[in-house]
This record gives sequence, C-alpha cells and structure tokens, in this order.
Amino acid sequence: MNLKTTYLGLELKHPLMASASPLSKTADQIKLLEEAGAAAVVMHSLFEEQLTLEEQQLDNTLNYGTESSGEALSYFPELGSFNIGPDEYLEQIALAKKSVDVPVIASLNGVTTGWWIDYAKKIEEAGADALELNVYYIPNRIDQSGSEVEELYLDVLREVKRGVSIPIAMKLSPFFSSTPNMAYKLSKEGADGLVLFNRFYQPDLDLEKLEVVPNLILSSSYEMRLPLLWIAVLFGKVKTDFALTTGIHNHLDVLKAMMVGANVAMMTSEMLSKGRGRFKEILHEMAQWMEEHEYDSVEQMRGSMSQKNVADPSAFKRANYMKMLASFRPDPNSQLP
Ligand SMILES: Cc1cc2nc3c(=O)[nH]c(=O)nc-3n(C[C@H](O)[C@H](O)[C@H](O)COP(=O)(O)O)c2cc1C
Repeated sequence: MNLKTTYLGLELKHPLMASASPLSKTADQIKLLEEAGAAAVVMHSLFEEQLTLEEQQLDNTLNYGTESSGEALSYFPELGSFNIGPDEYLEQIALAKKSVDVPVIASLNGVTTGWWIDYAKKIEEAGADALELNVYYIPNRIDQSGSEVEELYLDVLREVKRGVSIPIAMKLSPFFSSTPNMAYKLSKEGADGLVLFNRFYQPDLDLEKLEVVPNLILSSSYEMRLPLLWIAVLFGKVKTDFALTTGIHNHLDVLKAMMVGANVAMMTSEMLSKGRGRFKEILHEMAQWMEEHEYDSVEQMRGSMSQKNVADPSAFKRANYMKMLASFRPDPNSQLP
C-alpha cells in the first residue's frame, strides 16, 4: 500500500502529520512524535507577543528597571511557562533537525507586519524544512474593511517570501467573505501551502465572577466539515498544497481529507486526548480500509471527491444547503409537533 504524499515540496511517507501543539515544543517531543508515526511535525508557534515581551524586558534592563514592561508583563502573566523563548526556539529546531528524519515545520504566529522576516530568516538558518505562518487576527475596528484585513495576510506573506527560500504555508481563519478568492490571492503571492483552518477559539463567560474566561474545548470530527468543504471547492482551481486541520480524529477523517484534495491531514485534539499512539492506529486502519476498497495509493484517491471530480458538483453549493434543510426529519421520540 503506497501511502506516500508530498506537502510543500517535501516527500512524506504518509499524509498524517502533527499540527502545532504543546506536544511539539522541543526536539525531544518532536522525536517522540516521529517515533509515534507522525509523517512530519509542525512546531508549537513562536508568538509575536513573546518577541515583543523579550524586547520590552531588554529595554527595561537597559533603562535600569523602569516600569516600561509592566503592561506587557501583566498582559501575558503566564508567558514564561507558556512557551520557550525565541532563542531556545531556534535551538530546538537545530536540535530536532539533528535527531529526527521527518520534516520539521516551524510556526510563527502574529498579527502585525514588520517583525516576521527577521525570525523567518533565523528559522531558515536553524534548519527548518518549511515555515507555517499563522495570522490569528480578530478584527474589532468597525472602520477596517474586509479587503484591509486580507491585505494584512498578503503583506505578511510577501514580507516572508522576500527574505527566505524555504517553503511557506499560511494557516488561515475560515472567516473571509470569499475564501476561494483569498486562497487564490495567497497562491498568486507564492504561498506553497494553505492550512485550513485555524480553529477560532471563542471565550466563554463566568456568570458568577462576571469575567470573560478562556475555555479551550478539543475538537470533534464534525468540525472537519468546514475545511472539507473549502478544500473540495479549491482543489484543482488554486495552485497550492492543502493541509486539512481541525477535526481529524480517525482514519475515515484522513481518507475524506485526501478525497477532497488535501495533501496532508493534521492532528492535535485526538493526540492530546488519547495519546500519540493514535498515529499508528489511524494509519493501520487507513491502510486496511484502502485495501478493502481496492485503492493502491493515496495519490490515486487525492481529489477524487473534490468539487471538480465529484458526480454532482452542486453538492458543494447552495443547492445542497436547500436539500439538507429539506431532508431534516425530527426524531420520532421527540416532543416536536
Ligand atoms: C492546546 C493547543 C495548543 C495549540 N497551539 C498552537 C500553536 O502554537 N500554533 C498554532 O498554529 N496552532 C496551535 N493549535 C491549533 C492546532 O494546531 C490545530 O490547528 C487545532 O487544534 C485544530 O486541530 P485538531 O482538531 O486536530 O485539534 C493549538 C491547539 C491546542 C488544542
């Protein structure tokens, strides 16, 4: 059974990768993921806020302990334990590259332009095989238009592409007015891959304390339907690779990702809840399924159920929405009239 695939020009022995998570912060952890069977690993992100904080701390030291970093420090009180610092991040890339054979993809996460290129260059020098850029932007100004937000993503990509030659993937939010057009523009600017989608973490409210609280709930397979839809629509229309992230929990999810046209499927929640052992289990079940259904390779199935190739392309359009609403039948045991 040939499970091989390519992603960002990298040859992978199969399509199941580890996405950025707390289990990919260090070279030792990356090694464990390789041993568990991940075909490639995206490192936990280096965040813009970490770099800002470090600069402010340095300023503070140079200014003999003035309070200039007070705001940043109070803003991110747990940053120290949250992640490793920028220098250590680069060290971990270099260490990982010495100890593992699978591709190591670094990750930068931020929102403002102007700082990405320095770190992208350092990441390239440290030996990363590719770089994922996560522009996790939550617009909250009513005078900022959708096209301004899109320009932000494009500017970040241009900035990084100008300075490095390793492949670049963009991890996107699902909330663009036209996802296909945004994907097209990013591919025109040289994005080697699109990682669809960033999970949009929404805060909850604590009604007793009257506080807004972060509340991370791990994903379920159901959530893969959003990236599934858009990769199906984009496959064969936009020249770039696709990574499906969010909702990959079992072999059927990986197979669906391949069939709509993804190059790879990325996994975090399943591994965080059930352990790294899930990589090998899922791969085994995937190979078994392919044998039973007479597929010889992943390449053979890739894109076979994309909008371009599926028997009924309207299934990915508005017609399907109407069909879906019309097909709803209430549970016979429910109290509905
Ligand atoms: C605890 C945790 C930490 C994460 N850290 C990062 C990160 O540093 N950078 C990033 O781009 N995504 C990060 N993610 C998002 C994952 O890479 C992934 O895209 C998301 O969890 C959806 O995939 P899943 O359904 O397999 O969990 C994190 C997710 C979790 C649950």
